[in-house]
Amino acid sequence: MTGKVRKVVFPAAGLGTRFLPATKAQPKEMLPLVDKPLIQYGVEEAIHSGIQNIIIVTGRGKASIEDHFDVSFELEHLLETKKKTDLLKQVRDISDMIDVSYVRQKEALGLGHAVLRARELVGNESFAVVLSDDVIVSDIPCIRQLLDIHDFYGASVVALMEVPPEQISAYGVVDAEPVEHAGANGRLFRVRNMVEKPKAQDAPSNLAIIGRYILVPGIFQSIEAIPPGAGGEIQLTDALKHLLRSRPIYGYKFEGKRFDAGDKLGFLQATVEFALRRDDLGSGFREYLRSLQL
Ligand code: UTP
Repeated sequence: MTGKVRKVVFPAAGLGTRFLPATKAQPKEMLPLVDKPLIQYGVEEAIHSGIQNIIIVTGRGKASIEDHFDVSFELEHLLETKKKTDLLKQVRDISDMIDVSYVRQKEALGLGHAVLRARELVGNESFAVVLSDDVIVSDIPCIRQLLDIHDFYGASVVALMEVPPEQISAYGVVDAEPVEHAGANGRLFRVRNMVEKPKAQDAPSNLAIIGRYILVPGIFQSIEAIPPGAGGEIQLTDALKHLLRSRPIYGYKFEGKRFDAGDKLGFLQATVEFALRRDDLGSGFREYLRSLQL
C-alpha cells in the first residue's frame, strides 16, 4: 500500500563511536547544534514536510531523547513564575509539536535492523526515515522534496548527493539513470543498483545516498530476507538492493546543503554555519570569526 505518508522513523539507537567520548553516556542525537539537539532539526524538518507522527527507535542510554520531547512540568513552572515567556514557548513547542512513539532496539545490530523494529508502529504503509546526524538546510524541506516524488510514482525514494571521489568510499553509491520529470531539472534518477562503500575506482557514480528515505512497506520483508552485511550489521542498503529486485526505487538529488553532524569535522562546520545564520547570534559570531584573522 502507498498513499499519503503519515509516519517518520528516526533510528537513534546507534553507538555513535565517531563522536566518542561525548557519546559515551549521551546519545549522539542529543548533541546540540548551537542550542538545539540534532534530532530536533530532523523532527522540525518532518513537521515542515507535513508529517507529525514520529517514531523514534531508541536504545540503551537514550532516555534523554524521550525526556526532551516530553513535558517538563518543573521547568515550565519555573519559567512561568519568572515570566520568561519566550523560553517557555520554546520549551512547550517541543512537546506540543509532535505525536511521538518509541520502540527499542536492544542491541545495535545495524540501521536495517533498527528500521525493522518500527514495523509494528508503521504498519502496512509507506513511511519516511530520517537519520538525524545528517542535518540539511534547504528552502523546501528535504523530506518534502522526496515525498513529492513518492506521491507521483508510489515508489521508494532515497535522497542523493554528489560526493567527490576521495570521500565516496564512506557512502552507499547508486548506479542510476536520469528520469525526465517536470520540475525536477535533472535531479531525478531511477536506481539500477547500489554499492555500499565502494573504492573510488569501483564507484558506479558520484551519487551517494544520504540519510533521508521514503520507503514502501515491502522494505520490511527485504530487511528480514537479507543476511548481516558489512560489520556484521543488518544494512539498510542491502535491504534496498533486495527490494530493487521486485520494486522500483528512485533517487532524488535534493536541493539544499547537508552536514554530517555525526562526524566531528562535519559537526563543527554545521555549528559555524548555523550560528552565522541566527538573527540573535550571527553578527556577533561573524565579528568574532573575523577577529581570528585565519
Ligand atoms: P551510523 O552509521 O552513524 O552509526 O548510524 P552510529 O552507531 O550512530 O555512529 P558511528 O558511525 O558509530 O559514529 C546511522 C543512524 O542509524 C542509527 C544511528 O543512531 C544513526 O541515527 N542506528 C545505527 C541505529 O539506530 N541502530 C544501529 O544498530 C545502527
